[in-house]
Amino acid sequence: MEKVQKYIADRKNAMVEELNEWLRIPSISSLPDHKEDMYKAAEWAKAALIRSGAENVNVYKTEGHPVVYGEKLTDPDKPTVLVYGHYDVQPVDPLDLWDNPPFEPVVKKTDIHPEGAIFGRGSCDDKGQVFMHFKAFEAMVANNYLPVNFKFMIEGEEEIGSPHLGKFCEENKEMLKNDMILVSDTGIISNSIPSITSSLRGLSYVQVEVTGANRDLHSGTYGGAVANPINILCDLISKMMDENKHITIPGFYDKVMEAGKEEREMINKAPFDLEDYKSKLDIKEVFGETGFSVMERTGIRPTLDLNGIWGGFTGEGAKTVLPSKAFAKVSMRLVPNQDPKEIAELFEMYFRSIAPAYVKVDVKYLHGGLPVITPIDTPEYKAAEMAMEKTFGIKPVSTREGGSIPIIATFEQVLGTKSVLMGFGLDTDAIHSPNEHYGLFNLYRGMETIPYFFKYYSELKNSALNS
Ligand code: BES
Ligand code: ZN
Repeated sequence: MEKVQKYIADRKNAMVEELNEWLRIPSISSLPDHKEDMYKAAEWAKAALIRSGAENVNVYKTEGHPVVYGEKLTDPDKPTVLVYGHYDVQPVDPLDLWDNPPFEPVVKKTDIHPEGAIFGRGSCDDKGQVFMHFKAFEAMVANNYLPVNFKFMIEGEEEIGSPHLGKFCEENKEMLKNDMILVSDTGIISNSIPSITSSLRGLSYVQVEVTGANRDLHSGTYGGAVANPINILCDLISKMMDENKHITIPGFYDKVMEAGKEEREMINKAPFDLEDYKSKLDIKEVFGETGFSVMERTGIRPTLDLNGIWGGFTGEGAKTVLPSKAFAKVSMRLVPNQDPKEIAELFEMYFRSIAPAYVKVDVKYLHGGLPVITPIDTPEYKAAEMAMEKTFGIKPVSTREGGSIPIIATFEQVLGTKSVLMGFGLDTDAIHSPNEHYGLFNLYRGMETIPYFFKYYSELKNSALNS
């Protein structure tokens, strides 16, 4: 293990250069114009896995963006770990809010990252975190330290809900067969307080369209007599939440698994500084459902948010128009046992029921994913805990995160195995935002922690077998 750690320590600077090559490929999964870039980013991952020492590395075509798979199987008696991550990234707009171009990565120091952070789309979510696994693996192969069988699956559609990965898993069950799945696509509380994610929210994403008249109208000639779909859309959306920020869609909470007293106490025990939270975001007050703390609101409660709203005239200056149409993108974060499609149906029923007769409405389901809870009393979780304790010098706490990784629930259903969510990002790393970055501290600490994870996991697994 010492040699493994030294291998990593000796190569730190060159590693950043290597990761930057990957970050320069604009692999935005949601935009059709970037289809070629998806192949380029997948091919880059394939080459990186081969360089690191993986075998049988291939780029697999799917009906969507390709999946990269590689492995290093040394002994059928060792446990097999599947490392999952994604090479696709979110769109970059608004582009003018980036201090540096999103696909021209640079290292800059910040207050939170005094030793520097790589700024660029995908640096934290998730290329940088996948790259930690490539390098930790490389160091282990180079030193012939292989306590487990390794499998890697890096996909290109996580940011759009992994629509084709479930089928890929179904069709390649044998190849993907594993004892556990290790994922670094989440965060830690801070660089001095490590944590392991024990649950993720699900997601139900819909797009709504409200139509008034059959064409845009002069707002003087018709204004006051014909409905303005933008006004109506705002009205409808404002009816979706009451004054306690409780979502009003009938049936929305019916299946919510309410957290017990003990669980809520545990969530609220995790280190959290409200003043610091507000000051970092430059807000005077936090928002949310009455009766729940910030940690509960993001960890165990569902939400309804507009992600975009448009219609009418948004160019410079003024134009007097009653638009014919208005649109909004709506995402609802879900908690166990809410179902994305069911929730989208409830949304649609309610939206239609409150829409006045002077507009037509349409609701489209875009994508979704199930929430997950990962157990914290397993050797897998324990290994992650021990590895982080080893490198951070303090025992990690377990946190319930608000983001989603839709394929995790599918893994459990199709491959029958559980995941450990051991990520190293920070909430302040601006994922999905302009100026996304990933701390060099986090990048290196991740690389150092991952080999320990494999060491402890194999030891715990072996001792469980022998007892
Ligand atoms: N890395 C995130 C998930 C995440 C974010 C976990 C923050 C924990 C904390 C992932 O890449 C992501 O953004 N997922 C999407 C999924 C969606 C598009 C289906 C998300 O959560 O919005
Ligand atoms: Zn993401």
